[in-house]
Amino acid sequence: MSGAESAGVATGCDDEWDAFQARVARQESHRKKHCMNQGQQNKSDSIKEFEFTTRDFERVRALIYKRAGIALAESKQEMVYSRLARRLRATGITSFVRYLDELESGGNDQEWESFTNALTTNLTSFFREAHHFPILAEHAGKLKGQVEVWCSASSTGEEPYSIAITLCEAFGTLTPPAHIIATDIDTNVLTTAANGVYPIDRLDKMSSERAKRFFLRGKGEQAGLVRVRPELKKMVTFKQLNLLSNSWPISGPFDVIFCRNVMIYFDKPTQGKILSRFAPLMKPDGLLFAGHSENFLYLTDAFKLRGKTVYELDPKGAAKPLLSRQA
Ligand SMILES: C[S@@+](CC[C@H](N)C(=O)[O-])C[C@H]1O[C@@H](n2cnc3c(N)ncnc32)[C@H](O)[C@@H]1O
Repeated sequence: MSGAESAGVATGCDDEWDAFQARVARQESHRKKHCMNQGQQNKSDSIKEFEFTTRDFERVRALIYKRAGIALAESKQEMVYSRLARRLRATGITSFVRYLDELESGGNDQEWESFTNALTTNLTSFFREAHHFPILAEHAGKLKGQVEVWCSASSTGEEPYSIAITLCEAFGTLTPPAHIIATDIDTNVLTTAANGVYPIDRLDKMSSERAKRFFLRGKGEQAGLVRVRPELKKMVTFKQLNLLSNSWPISGPFDVIFCRNVMIYFDKPTQGKILSRFAPLMKPDGLLFAGHSENFLYLTDAFKLRGKTVYELDPKGAAKPLLSRQA
């Protein structure tokens, strides 16, 4: 589990969110005191390859918030330094001030993409939060016509391929009447996902029967790797999509939307806005799957809880965010 996830960042639940913020503030103040006492602050600054001040960090936080909605906690300064120091080396820029100036001056879409890719957290696994998949199978079994699924933060592909496997099993064929559109903001993870090649230990928790049915084992130079079967790949279309953008290059209606473990990086008003944009993209009996620490209630009245982290449209809801961002 990533730091953000284990810490329960922006769970969407008031109490948890407030408790989390208070905990982060306490930890931060403790860390600062500790560093000052031991004189470690100056020591660690002096051994850094690039100067990275709190002001630089604040600029990064503002930029990634505006670009991707990602609300980086104060405690992430070291993580941000190490991820972006790589960008400075790659671009040959020798100071954070200049690197950020160049980004802000606009015009370098490629670097904006690399900057964003560097700051996302992509942790995922096959059949993560396993209780969702039997619910998906049961729902798909009741539908008529092609099953349309949107996996809205697909990371390196394990989630959309788990959806594809579930649908194959539900319909008893490698070519079920189903299509999955899998999107993410991060172009690097989308490339990995579209390749569909993984180290074999990614399948450790999968039954060997399932693994054999849906993956091909690499031989020779590919030993230790597995590839998803071409039939699964055909079921999934990968596309870049920023959930924060005003226009999404997709069109519904969807029977199912997976939006798991991404909302935790957004603040509540952003979560509410995204949820109210999901609602009109769903079929009336559609299902929305959330991550284990995400609570979508009280953010919009468009959805009601159907079961553990599974939502359905509330016919009485108005699909409007209930919160707006305060300036
Ligand atoms: C922790 S992973 C979750 C992956 C998968 N949904 C799961 O639960 O295993 C979060 C993903 O959200 C993506 N992400 C972050 N901000 C995003 C945004 N604004 N729009 C779309 N995807 C975003 C990240 O690139 C990352 O791949």
